[in-house]
Amino acid sequence: MALARTRRDAPLMNKRELRHNSVTGLCCYTPARPPTAETALIKVHLIAAARPNFMKVAPLYHALKATAWAEPLLVHTGQHYDHNMSDAILRDLRVPEPDFHLGVGSGSHAEQTGGVMIAYEKVCLDDRPDWIVVVGDVNSTAACAMVGTKLWIPVVHLEAGLRSGDRRMPEEINRLVTDSIADVLWTPSPDADENLLAEGVARDKIDLIGNIMIDSFEMLRERIESSETAAELGVAAGEYALVTLHRPSNVDALETLEPIVNALLDAAKSLPIVFVAHPRTIKGLEDFSLKETLAGNPNVIFLEPVPYIRFMSLVTGARVVITDSGGLQEETTYLGVPCLTMRQNTERPVTVSMGTNKLIDAHSLAENLQTVLDDKWHTGECPPLWDGKTALRAVDCLERRSRERRISSVQ
Ligand code: UD1
Repeated sequence: MALARTRRDAPLMNKRELRHNSVTGLCCYTPARPPTAETALIKVHLIAAARPNFMKVAPLYHALKATAWAEPLLVHTGQHYDHNMSDAILRDLRVPEPDFHLGVGSGSHAEQTGGVMIAYEKVCLDDRPDWIVVVGDVNSTAACAMVGTKLWIPVVHLEAGLRSGDRRMPEEINRLVTDSIADVLWTPSPDADENLLAEGVARDKIDLIGNIMIDSFEMLRERIESSETAAELGVAAGEYALVTLHRPSNVDALETLEPIVNALLDAAKSLPIVFVAHPRTIKGLEDFSLKETLAGNPNVIFLEPVPYIRFMSLVTGARVVITDSGGLQEETTYLGVPCLTMRQNTERPVTVSMGTNKLIDAHSLAENLQTVLDDKWHTGECPPLWDGKTALRAVDCLERRSRERRISSVQ
């Protein structure tokens, strides 16, 4: 297993000691004087693992980087590794090469969780951070939270408190584990606070900061809006359905995937479908011999994963989104795009109660799609604090909590 520190191998120095190196032509931290408790920057590990993590980590990385007191260090566990599932998205989000790459890759839940724990523990023992921020609900989230907590390094969970109530979802287990051990819980909406309080979490551990994914969208709005992705694919804005599916409960078994494919083929008679397929879904379609029927349909545009800007441009231009993604339920609510979620439950109920989302199944797709096409879909409203300023609130909270914990040098 590769465990590499890819950048900034010099000991941590005060930002004021950033110097130009006349030999390499690069700016670097020079060890002019060793940091003291007063001058050392607060080292914050930001854990990024899988595609939906990157748009949550990026705004926080940029906001921390802009402070005079924090040193954000990006830790990529390698859970997602394909170019378009990882590097291309990080580049869109203007995030530099990770400081640490754990290279864990794919595997069973235990292999992945254990692999991340073993690799990340070594990083922490070698280069102990002052804070660890884990995001979302993937296996790496719970793994790094456990490593940090056992080493007595304070852990923040960004996007805490979401609950589907469905313990068959691996993500629900990751959420429960992470929230029960994290020191600080950053929540996106009041329902998340209520979930945590109901589980007995102390109120003073919770900061309601808002939805940080919206920050990524706002940071790149201009480029997203000027992207011509739909036109390049030959579909007109507002006249296609965008589809993404990747939940094991939908794509790992023939009994669930086949009715969905049939419902989508039926929908393709009404409007063009842009199907952006996750590697897990491609595998399911191939294993069950469904790929040719779907991808070969003249009204279906079948794509492998696309980077963030191109993908969000497809979301903004869609007449309707059909998905089982957590993040897309939120992005469509923010953008006012109708969202049909192929799931029995959601950990993001605010997108249903306030937004444009509705839970459906393969059998109810046709009637719900018709409601959208008849322009009768509910318009919804944007939840409070989904405003593009969540990273700034997160930074304020971290500064305050650093003072409270007397972690060095937030002076
Ligand atoms: C993971 C998360 C899920 C999240 C999703 C977003 C867990 C338990 N699940 O699910 O919460 O919604 O990411 O995409 O953490 N693969 C590739 N290339 C890659 C990554 C994966 O080919 O870059 C293939 C591999 O065959 C792998 C499979 O996809 O076994 C599943 O990847 P994995 O990270 O285990 O789970 P996801 O389904 O992506």
